[in-house]
Amino acid sequence: MTSLHSKALNKLPAANRKENACIKCHVTGSPEMIAAEGAKPSFPNVQCEGCHGAGRAHVDAATTVDIVTAKPVKTTEDTCLRCHNDTSPHYKPFYYLALVGMVHKKGKG
Ligand code: HEC
Ligand code: HEC
Ligand code: HEC
Repeated sequence: MTSLHSKALNKLPAANRKENACIKCHVTGSPEMIAAEGAKPSFPNVQCEGCHGAGRAHVDAATTVDIVTAKPVKTTEDTCLRCHNDTSPHYKPFYYLALVGMVHKKGKG
């Protein structure tokens, strides 16, 4: 809740919150979900599932089969590059090894 990722949608000026071109990297969800929901995202900001993958299978497995069979998706450099890439209109160079340690630090990524 204290990370920059958790505030990502609020960084968009109001006019840009209607544009999928901006929203897609500032919210959580599949590309289809993000396109369909537009300005009313059910998961605003970059939440846990934006990096760790959708958690539904994990939750279902916990009550039915075996919690270990549905592990969260392993985060890799490719996870980050879905958003930290030069298709962004304001791209800043992204150095995975320098930045990955920040994602769970208070007030950082
Ligand atoms: C391809 C993914 C992507 C798209 C598309 C995108 N952003 Fe971002 N945005 C990011 C990332 C990643 C950051 C983190 C800082 C950085 O690397 O630029 C960010 C940060 C920001 C920030 C905070 C900047 C700062 O330095 O604190 C603002 C404001 C912003 N974006 C606005 C926009 C607007 C407006 C649009 C649409 C015109 C947009 N973004 C589209 C990925 C994206
Ligand atoms: C911006 C991407 C990102 C977001 C958002 C994110 N995480 Fe993570 N998380 C990571 C990365 C990367 C690691 C692994 C860190 C490393 O390898 O040093 C990690 C590690 C973890 C771990 C340790 C896993 C292990 O096997 O050691 C847990 C638990 C976790 N995250 C839970 C969460 C929860 C809960 C949230 C939401 C509140 C969240 N994460 C949001 C990227 C993210
Ligand atoms: C779903 C898109 C998305 C993913 C995936 C993502 N990020 Fe981000 N990231 C953003 C946005 C948007 C911001 C800007 C947030 C803000 O300024 O409020 C940001 C901000 C950051 C910042 C702070 C940058 C600054 O200029 O202060 C760091 C560090 C960061 N991300 C690291 C990572 C790492 C490491 C991963 C992969 C483990 C990752 N991010 C995955 C979208 C994403």
